[in-house]
Amino acid sequence: MKVSVCRKAHFNAAHRLYNPKWSDEKNWEVFGKCNNPNYHGHNYTLEVWVKGEIDPETGYLIDLKILKDLIESEVEDRFDHKNLNEDTKEFKELNPTAENICIVIWKLLRAKLDPKMELKVRLYETERNIVEFDGN
Ligand code: NI
Repeated sequence: MKVSVCRKAHFNAAHRLYNPKWSDEKNWEVFGKCNNPNYHGHNYTLEVWVKGEIDPETGYLIDLKILKDLIESEVEDRFDHKNLNEDTKEFKELNPTAENICIVIWKLLRAKLDPKMELKVRLYETERNIVEFDGN
């Protein structure tokens, strides 16, 4: 019998969508305003979903304090109030689209989470633009 729990978090970050292999014109055509050379920011909302069996001794799937600390150390400390393109090694070579940010966060958390638990990450770049990744 499996149950899911979710911890929500927020971080603010700046980015620029850009493909260095393309001309300025093509970058503008594809990424529009998100290609602004002086960057722009988003208030990202993150949902981290963990699924698995309840531990009969605690009644918990995972202590949400542990999940909170994990999100803080792996995601917020790394990306909050950063320029993703300039300040982070994860996006030096990788275009910081919501899709790529979501997968990077999933990998960072996956590496630290108990392997017997399933993990899904949902990233809201805006209230209306949402990306989800569960490792598949
Ligand atoms: Ni953007």
